[in-house]
Amino acid sequence: MSIAEEQPDDEPVPRVHVRAPGKINLFLGVGDLDEDGYHALSTVFQAVSLYEDVVATPADDFTIAVSGAAAPDTVPLDDRNLAMRAAKALAAATGYEGGVHLDVRKSVPVAGGMGGGSADAAAALLACNELWRTGLDHARLHELAARLGADVPFALMGGTAVGSGRGDVLTAALSRGRYEWVLVLDDEGLSTPAVYRAFDLVTAEERESDPVGHAQRRRRDPVQVPPSFFESLLSGDPSALGRSLRNQLQAGSFRLRPQLEELIQHVRRAEDVVGGVVSGSGPTVAFLCASAAGADALAERLREQGRTALRAHGPVRGAHVVSTES
Ligand code: C5P
Repeated sequence: MSIAEEQPDDEPVPRVHVRAPGKINLFLGVGDLDEDGYHALSTVFQAVSLYEDVVATPADDFTIAVSGAAAPDTVPLDDRNLAMRAAKALAAATGYEGGVHLDVRKSVPVAGGMGGGSADAAAALLACNELWRTGLDHARLHELAARLGADVPFALMGGTAVGSGRGDVLTAALSRGRYEWVLVLDDEGLSTPAVYRAFDLVTAEERESDPVGHAQRRRRDPVQVPPSFFESLLSGDPSALGRSLRNQLQAGSFRLRPQLEELIQHVRRAEDVVGGVVSGSGPTVAFLCASAAGADALAERLREQGRTALRAHGPVRGAHVVSTES
């Protein structure tokens, strides 16, 4: 009897490694709260080079382990975890009866407005679909993704895309060049629903103080992405894109975390910085720089001031299989 036969545990365990990117909303227009509890959005996403790595291995049950630089102890390990929900949703949709162990290595800030949880979910969907050989096509995966969360479809897609609806109806956008970012993290995350509620409050206050506008207006649609925005993206010129960055939702983030507004005003003045905006619901702030060297220098200066600053570039590809072993 060979050693391999005596020790079946030494057989290679099938495993699938998938990587999915975090995102920055280059433009985010927000409408009124709808009856379904969501706000209509008009947004442009860019996938950036901070990644979530998910390794899926077969298991009888559904288990998850989380590690990585970005505060893993604040991430739930039960059904509140979006990657766990993604695996279970795929099993339910395909009738798969086994389970999976998910090993999640995080690099996207937790509760930072960069879609880290959504990237985990996108990666888990793709990894389990491969591991279990359930063979769902892109369209079905996108459908499952949209049910898990508004930002999950974009984490599957990557690149640059325009999002409408809740942000889950996507169209690829043309973009030229590579954009260099410095991401400034806050010590404590912000809850996305809390930021949307704060945004509703700020909007209601604005209307109160403008009774004429209030009486005239019934519903407010999100500010649409202007044609000039797409011209900026096509120009490949960071200064043009920097001037076009806009996030309506940041009014809500500023209400909950006023120091973010000061941070943007302060850093925006620095040499080589061409734009600054809260990423999604925040509190991460994304600064666009004119060059990679300028961005490196800015990140270094901010670290010297005691801040947590990460470097990234975009656009990058969406969730993809890095390796499989079977
Ligand atoms: O879809 P996701 O789970 O990421 O959304 C979290 C919460 O953020 C929602 O429950 C909702 O309160 C808020 N949200 C919203 N409008 C959107 C996206 C999210 O109000 N378009």
